[in-house]
Amino acid sequence: MPTALTLSGSIRQGSFNKSLQAHMDRQLGTAGVSVSSIDLSDFPMPIFNEDLEAEHTPNAAPQLAELWRTHDIIFIATPEYNGGLPPLLVNTVTWLSRQKPSPFRYAVFGIGGVSSGKYGTIWGLSHLRESLTKMGALVVPTLLGIGPAEQAFDQEGNPVEPGIIRKIDQMVHELTHFSRG
Ligand SMILES: Cc1cc2nc3c(=O)[nH]c(=O)nc-3n(C[C@H](O)[C@H](O)[C@H](O)COP(=O)(O)O)c2cc1C
Repeated sequence: MPTALTLSGSIRQGSFNKSLQAHMDRQLGTAGVSVSSIDLSDFPMPIFNEDLEAEHTPNAAPQLAELWRTHDIIFIATPEYNGGLPPLLVNTVTWLSRQKPSPFRYAVFGIGGVSSGKYGTIWGLSHLRESLTKMGALVVPTLLGIGPAEQAFDQEGNPVEPGIIRKIDQMVHELTHFSRG
């Protein structure tokens, strides 16, 4: 059975990206994937600084890196902040980029996001795709940008827009059919 790790770049209570993560957990589960859904607040890491690395690498960095190496699929939901990525996600990716062996070269990655603007995280996701790809990650092509956030989900936390529902199906298909070989 394929395995997936899912996470959100927002740990805010009531986060729309946590709703997207939970929705993807259900969709991947339905597609026959065993899902580990994590919360980045369980992996605390100080703001990265090279001076910290030698003696103060937080335990969360190697722990999270090992999770990234041992799952077939990684899905990241993230808000867009100022046309870029939230500091939590940038910091997490930065710490992971310093772990060996590289945690970016194993899984197939899916990225998506929910933001309040009508362009729904497309700038943030472009940054994330570029950064992950630069580190050797295989990111599936579907761009899952969702916005405006307030109108995106129904009471059960499922997306309402037919175009988004279709894109999620497409991404689940890609995530379960692409392989690093
Ligand atoms: C510092 C900051 C910057 C933001 N910048 C953007 C932005 O560039 N584009 C956008 O659509 N929304 C932006 N937002 C609004 C977020 O999309 C919105 O707060 C969203 O709900 C955050 O995701 P979450 O619900 O998962 O926490 C910004 C919010 C914050 C706090």
